[in-house]
Amino acid sequence: MTTITNNNVIGAWDAEHALPFEVPTLEAVGLPAGGLPSGGLPSAPTDAAGGLPSAPTGAAGGWPLSQLRAEFPILSERVEGGKPLVWLDNAATTQKPRAVIERLQEYYEHENSNVHRGAHTLAARATDAYEEARGKVAAFIGAPSADNIVFVRGTTEGINLVAQSFVKPLLSPGDEIVLTILEHHANIVPWQVLTQETGAVLRVAPVDDTGQILVDEYRRLFSPRTKFASFTQVSNALGTVVPVEELIAIAHAFGVPTLVDGAQSIPHTPVNVTALDADFFVFSGHKLYAPTGIGAVYGKREHLEAAVPYQTGGNMIKDVTFERTVYQDPPQKFEAGTGNIADAVGLGAAIDFLEQIGIAHIAAWEQELLRYGTAELTKVPGLHLVGTAHHKASVLSFVLDGHSVEEIGQALSREGIAVRAGHHCAQPILRRFGLEGTVRPSLAFYNTPEEIEQLAQVLHRLAG
Ligand code: ALA
Repeated sequence: MTTITNNNVIGAWDAEHALPFEVPTLEAVGLPAGGLPSGGLPSAPTDAAGGLPSAPTGAAGGWPLSQLRAEFPILSERVEGGKPLVWLDNAATTQKPRAVIERLQEYYEHENSNVHRGAHTLAARATDAYEEARGKVAAFIGAPSADNIVFVRGTTEGINLVAQSFVKPLLSPGDEIVLTILEHHANIVPWQVLTQETGAVLRVAPVDDTGQILVDEYRRLFSPRTKFASFTQVSNALGTVVPVEELIAIAHAFGVPTLVDGAQSIPHTPVNVTALDADFFVFSGHKLYAPTGIGAVYGKREHLEAAVPYQTGGNMIKDVTFERTVYQDPPQKFEAGTGNIADAVGLGAAIDFLEQIGIAHIAAWEQELLRYGTAELTKVPGLHLVGTAHHKASVLSFVLDGHSVEEIGQALSREGIAVRAGHHCAQPILRRFGLEGTVRPSLAFYNTPEEIEQLAQVLHRLAG
């Protein structure tokens, strides 16, 4: 890779795969050439009931963007004295479609009960809905069975579960856990706690100046002392798409199991944990258009069987006496207490909704928005993009000369534009670029080219 000096970049562009600086042509996703359409994506036929199109037709899903956006009530919200909300904080959380909101209402109006216990109609309804959602998660990520899926509160709880239940019993003093510098705090702190508890140590793979993992350096970290490796599939701070297939294969060559943190990847790219051969995969529902407080851990069957639950109590047992307890089989063995039943059902509804559109279509449209956003932001004088890897998803992190990131976040907010400004719970990777914070617009498939233009306009004004 050749490093190019570019005033609009902190770090470097990957010269071999440099992102286009022109507004890209759009034929690749079936959109009209000559600029992004002002009226949204080309229209697709709706189904007979006049509802959502039953099957995407175009390369971008064939959905009219206005129709997609109408499925998200909050996108019509007015803020700051009547300005339309521009939601560009999707890496922090996504907005919820009507299908999810209505499913929650239906659950509470017609199904609400505890699950697995109680032989009555509502217990059966709630249990069916909860287990159906587990099956939807499994199918969505290519897991062999619903039994591979443990419901948790989100990515953070999922990583803590794997760290405490599976990895901790493997560790002796001096053993090593491999991470990468791209990780957000949720994929750092639980491992650091393990090192304090066991005497194990962390080894951290570096990135190049574009923000991509240096795979050879990562490989060099492995030794007979390595017991586990955990890494993100997409960086929340830079948007780098990490070659996790390669990282998993390297770890496996050393006999080391892996966890893939899918918090930022699952909304933007198709995921197949079986094809990846991931040992564990974790994600949060709220970044996938589902409610907060629900997420999932995928684990290979043998790992889930070997792991020792770190939370215990009701629901996860087969038999209890004061002398001993027999646990349920996985996944129930890891679901102590009453779970977040309604929001698991909401997660199932979000997956149904996304599958109607097609995650591959979502990925294609978001890539166009990302390229357009990259092109627009690099025109702003004094703006420096942070994170310029060839493979990126959703995120356009930047700093602007003469302005603090908080100031920019507030200026954008006054115009109705929501972005995250700060350290994004990923301080090590920002410090790698000599920064304590960035402004981070982050995209979802319901975003429009016009919203990117509004963002760029405010930045031009600030820069000017
Ligand atoms: N991890 C979330 C973010 O990136 C909260 O904003």
